[in-house]
Amino acid sequence: MQEILKRVENAADFIKDQGVEDLEVGLILGSGLGKVAEMIENPLIISYTDIPDFPISTVAGHAGQFVYGTLNGKKVLAQQGRFHYYEGYSMQEITIPVRILKALGAHSVIITNAAGGVNKAFTPGDLMMITDQINYTGDNPLIGRNDDEVGPRFPDMSYAYDVDYQVLMRNIAKDLGIKIQEGVYMGYSGPTYETPAEIRMSRILGADAVGMSTVPEVIVAQHVGLRVAGISCITNMAAGVLDQPLNHQEVIEVSARVYDHFKQLVLEILKQM
Ligand code: HPA
Repeated sequence: MQEILKRVENAADFIKDQGVEDLEVGLILGSGLGKVAEMIENPLIISYTDIPDFPISTVAGHAGQFVYGTLNGKKVLAQQGRFHYYEGYSMQEITIPVRILKALGAHSVIITNAAGGVNKAFTPGDLMMITDQINYTGDNPLIGRNDDEVGPRFPDMSYAYDVDYQVLMRNIAKDLGIKIQEGVYMGYSGPTYETPAEIRMSRILGADAVGMSTVPEVIVAQHVGLRVAGISCITNMAAGVLDQPLNHQEVIEVSARVYDHFKQLVLEILKQM
């Protein structure tokens, strides 16, 4: 953990030196949703490959850069392309960007993802406000020695997704006339999609959506004291819900299709954060 904190410090110092200041909100953009970063005014682009000690994203559809600037009046740092556990990084490594947000002074983070719908009332193309999560990865980014200056040994996860932001998102969706689902996100390690049996289990355990990201980032956000707003784009029904195979292409296509609503929602949340 000490080694990770040193890497965070080095990377944050480098990013600060590029001119990132007065940061307010972090944006973590999921598969097919990275385009939001293209709306940032006066963008300062920092490629992951230039940042000392920083991991590099390997998944198609993920750009691998930070974009800093102003979006709807807020100073944001968008993570265009995130790190996944299934790429072989440790949980500590994939959550370095969340720690960097804190080090740069952000108070909140909007965490987004593409997810499979477990709740049978959902349809591909739905947006889901995340209200809670189930860590089914079998790992945890806080395992190891704890630095009490950073956060508590046993963080409370009762309100991991900020309750005020949930009220805000509900109201914003209503005002914009955008239908938004709500539910529990269950994080698997991936990279396999789940089996139909696993999805039936997930439903029994209380999940509304499943995916391969977000859970570790939200744990670290909670640890360091960043307020979280979470949005899933339901790109497909999870395995076995419909009698058809899953593929990554579908995930990218559906997230592109709902992009407009997603964008409107993110812009308005940012404004009111
Ligand atoms: N399962 C896991 N991750 C996903 C899915 C899914 O069905 N769809 C998009 N990301």
